[in-house]
Amino acid sequence: MEVCLPTLTDFAMPHSLHDTPASLSALEAHRRQFSALSNKGYFNYGGQGPLPQLALDAILEGYRQMQSDGPFSKKAFDWVTAQAQQTRSAIAQELCVSPDTISLTDSVSAGCNIALWGLPWRKADHLLITDCEHPGIVAATQELGRRYGVCVETCPVLQTLNEGDPVAAIAAQVNSDTRLVVLSHILWNTGQVLPLADVILACRQQNPDVLILVDAAQSVGVLPLNLADLDVDFYALTGHKWLCGPDGVGALYVRPDLRDKLSPTFIGWRGIRVDQVGNPTGWKADGTRYEMATAAFPLYRGLSEAIALHRQWGNATQRYQRICALSKRLWTNLTLIKGVECLSQRAPDAGLVSFRIRGGANGDWVAALETKQIMIRSIANPNCLRACVHYLTLESEIDEFTSTLAELL
Ligand SMILES: Cc1ncc(COP(=O)(O)O)c(C=O)c1O
Repeated sequence: MEVCLPTLTDFAMPHSLHDTPASLSALEAHRRQFSALSNKGYFNYGGQGPLPQLALDAILEGYRQMQSDGPFSKKAFDWVTAQAQQTRSAIAQELCVSPDTISLTDSVSAGCNIALWGLPWRKADHLLITDCEHPGIVAATQELGRRYGVCVETCPVLQTLNEGDPVAAIAAQVNSDTRLVVLSHILWNTGQVLPLADVILACRQQNPDVLILVDAAQSVGVLPLNLADLDVDFYALTGHKWLCGPDGVGALYVRPDLRDKLSPTFIGWRGIRVDQVGNPTGWKADGTRYEMATAAFPLYRGLSEAIALHRQWGNATQRYQRICALSKRLWTNLTLIKGVECLSQRAPDAGLVSFRIRGGANGDWVAALETKQIMIRSIANPNCLRACVHYLTLESEIDEFTSTLAELL
């Protein structure tokens, strides 16, 4: 019998949105990189993505190499410096910006905190945040309010999921004292994609000096992005969710002309320049001024390998189109189950699908599905369940999930 192994062209070709035999075999071969996907229906990409073997191998190899080279040696230092630069470049390519605008962090929260605490706040400045932000980010803005007397106000976007206009809801609360608007590109709870370019434009019409900090936890690795076109000020991301990198590596994009307005808050040797006798003489010129000190450098290599692997499968538009086709399938399947209600009245514009089940506690549904090797999560506000689809998701995985759910009901 002839065995048809996937070839390099299988990986490089643009993929159909449907499981034709050719594209399915290519996707299945690609998925074999992700051991986490081999024995479960995985729908928690918005929590944490699976790590590809290639990335895991690169991380281990990085640690091995550092031991063999030093670990504290010129050779090891040159290696980690090169890895960091390569990772900034890989992230910059995903965002269509220049690598010098990227600062490596360890999480979305770290990136948001760099932007939040680095601005020159004055008492009674106004900070606007949506009602759909992650609790960690909300807490940081509240502490900013408590410490500096900043007036923190919340604007209602949750109610715009099915009707109303999120752009108007946000812009209506921007005033001449508003220094910063904090919002997510994709809302982590309902999966709504905010029209970021329109939001930014509308906010600047209200106040030309207002700055925009975007929590990109759920958008990077999902949406095709061009930050320069969006004219966004700060974009905080992580590699461990949709990009399937290791936990512990994220990044912050800072618009280059804002570097002089945004002071570093966490300060260490990576962000500063020193003179010949080692005295600090100022910040680094580029985004590395917001990086601090020693980190788990081999992890950086893991993230750049994961990004390269996604690019090998398809470009950002192809990956996003497949995500949308799959989330439409999941949303449609869910709407057909009696006792299940999707929060969105139309198919989502990204990979997060939020829904409610009539009867039973959400935590119990998550636990019941996990006994069947299907992983989703619950969300507290609004009270619902959330399942995420990636371009890596199989149509059959979605159908299996929804038929299992229907059986459990
Ligand atoms: C919208 C949003 N913001 C922030 C976070 C926190 O991410 P991190 O742990 O990378 O700071 C999450 C994680 O789920 C999230 O969904």
